[in-house]
Amino acid sequence: MSRRPLVTVDGPAGSGKSSTAKELARRLGFRHLDSGALYRALTYALLEEGLPVDGWPELSSRELDALEIQVEPEPEGVRIRYGDRVMGPELRTAAVTENVSHLSAVPAVRRWLLQRQREAARGGGLVADGRDMGSVVFPDADLKVFLVANLEERARRRLRERAEKESPEAVEAEALRLEERDRRDRERETAPLRPAEDAVEVDTTSLDFDEQVDRILALVEDLTPS
Ligand code: DC
Repeated sequence: MSRRPLVTVDGPAGSGKSSTAKELARRLGFRHLDSGALYRALTYALLEEGLPVDGWPELSSRELDALEIQVEPEPEGVRIRYGDRVMGPELRTAAVTENVSHLSAVPAVRRWLLQRQREAARGGGLVADGRDMGSVVFPDADLKVFLVANLEERARRRLRERAEKESPEAVEAEALRLEERDRRDRERETAPLRPAEDAVEVDTTSLDFDEQVDRILALVEDLTPS
């Protein structure tokens, strides 16, 4: 293939998309686009500005511009700026995580982000992860992966990520939160969470992190040169 490939990795919360996509990009020498971070950045900015969640469905593109979120290319992927701050761990706070799926259901928000995500893919050599990377944003991607994992395993992974105890109660509570977020992502009208028709499903329930990355790496290596 003359152009470096564009790989999409979609799947539900806790399926391991972002960490897998990031490591895959590192090993391939590609850039990484964590599209969830863009939805999180807008959510963070709206919460900071104090705009009530029930008004989010009416947001216009002009109001989104006024939030001063910038998506800038950098060698490893993109840098997200809010005013003059570079966004980082604040995108993962509980308040952002709880509210982000309300924002990501708003069509104007998805339209606003579409072009910004596509710009990040210019020149190929990108691994993009999210919910609609293969189905909507990059329908011509060279390889589309859809990660799945059972709910309990995903809940355990989320607890481990946050270094929290994996008691049965904690696992159950986290599983309920994940299930609710997945339901909202699957049932929204615009760009719902679902595999693209030509996506390859990879079940990561019984795979460890390196096995997940290796599995997808093998799929990238199998791409036929043209
Ligand atoms: O992957 P994540 O947990 O950072 O995603 C945050 C939220 O953003 C999640 O509720 C779904 C939404 N999202 C989306 O709708 N489309 C994407 N391409 C990426 C994320």
